[in-house]
Amino acid sequence: METPNQRELIIGIDFGSTYTGIGWSVLENEHIFTVQEWPTRGESEGSMISPKVPTRLRYLDGGEFEWGYQIPNDALPWEIMSLFKRGLEPGSLVFRDVDQNITDYLSRIFASFIKAVPIHIGIDIYSGRAVCFALTVPTIWSEQRKQRIIQAFERIPNLPRGHSTTLLSESEAAATAALRDLAQNDLGVNDSFVLVDAGGDTVDLITYTITSLTPTLEIAETTEGTSDFCGSSRLNDRFINFLASGFHNEEHWDDHVLREAVECFDKKIKRMFDMSSLALNREYIVPVRGLNVNPGLGVHNPGRLSLMADQIHLIFEPDIIRIIQLVKDQIAMAAVPIKKIILVGGYGSSMYLRERLQIAIREDSSITNDIEILQPPNGWVSVVRGAIMKEISLAKSSSSDIETYPVESF
Ligand SMILES: Nc1ncnc2c1ncn2[C@@H]1O[C@H](COP(=O)(O)OP(=O)(O)OP(=O)(O)O)[C@@H](O)[C@H]1O
Ligand SMILES: [Mg+2]
Repeated sequence: METPNQRELIIGIDFGSTYTGIGWSVLENEHIFTVQEWPTRGESEGSMISPKVPTRLRYLDGGEFEWGYQIPNDALPWEIMSLFKRGLEPGSLVFRDVDQNITDYLSRIFASFIKAVPIHIGIDIYSGRAVCFALTVPTIWSEQRKQRIIQAFERIPNLPRGHSTTLLSESEAAATAALRDLAQNDLGVNDSFVLVDAGGDTVDLITYTITSLTPTLEIAETTEGTSDFCGSSRLNDRFINFLASGFHNEEHWDDHVLREAVECFDKKIKRMFDMSSLALNREYIVPVRGLNVNPGLGVHNPGRLSLMADQIHLIFEPDIIRIIQLVKDQIAMAAVPIKKIILVGGYGSSMYLRERLQIAIREDSSITNDIEILQPPNGWVSVVRGAIMKEISLAKSSSSDIETYPVESF
């Protein structure tokens, strides 16, 4: 017979600076689902299928707003609110209504979950089932920021009565999922690894040591977490500067041409880039609609910018150097041998980042052991998957050493 505990529904939310994910599991079978279908502008456009949805809002007249994939491609940059997770930093003045923005955004994330959940498991989350939300936050966040995110979350209308909300560290969640998702990682008890969560805004690092594999996976922090703003959106910023400095005086150059070019760089070029393309100095074509031929600027055919791999290399270089240094600092801080470096997050799936990091570690004479760099499958959604896995094991062991904020009624 089912116990009330087994009926618990666990919902993990990774509210990221650039992309957000939500998933769930029920204790009775522990299968992890993530929401893959997100609304676009209208019924006619259908849904967008993706493991995560952009963390962005666009407020319209009359208090309505668009979010995620609903925001049309031709929306102007200044109409779009992005990176508002940063607004929770103390002293941030840029985002005046950040708490409301987060509530607005997360309410739509929750609505997408509500839409998806009956399709997958046919349950009604308002039917009295115990519901636990596991929200992930950066390891380095202050108590004040944690309280603000909890409060912003709890203001979502229609959260189920009597739910509880738990905060988990993004890095610990990612490490948990990565270790489970890596089929062969030959990591055992007492082995240490550096977890690098390379996202859109920040790259967050921490070193863990495995303290137990069975019955539950347990890891302990070996170093303090470190972080810097060298995430993947900086590549876009540098690409924008590169274009703007070259093209700002060109006829037909405008925000729409820029947006289309950046879209191509963001979704395709930077993700495909690797060491072998650099060795061959491969050519990538970027659409610059309407622009005339200008060989000096790389436009050899109308509307087509030829971007060479050695130019892309320059766009990556400052942040690659910074990330390598952050990893080396973690290795030095750990003062124990590091067996693996695990890359997660969107940027963490970059082939180029992995290759550069591997070379830098091998060439560093102060690092004597061979450190393998791993990119787990599903690394983009490691945080949300790991939050659910961690919460499942905590619920099963009924451990109470986590921060839980029970909510009586809403
Ligand atoms: N292969 C790739 N190479 C480089 N960047 C990539 C790649 N795939 C995705 N990205 C970038 O990763 C970012 C999204 O990653 P992720 O969802 O981990 O970030 P986030 O959690 O929103 O950010 P943060 O952790 O800073 O809050 C986007 O900027 C996206 O363009
Ligand atoms: Mg993240």
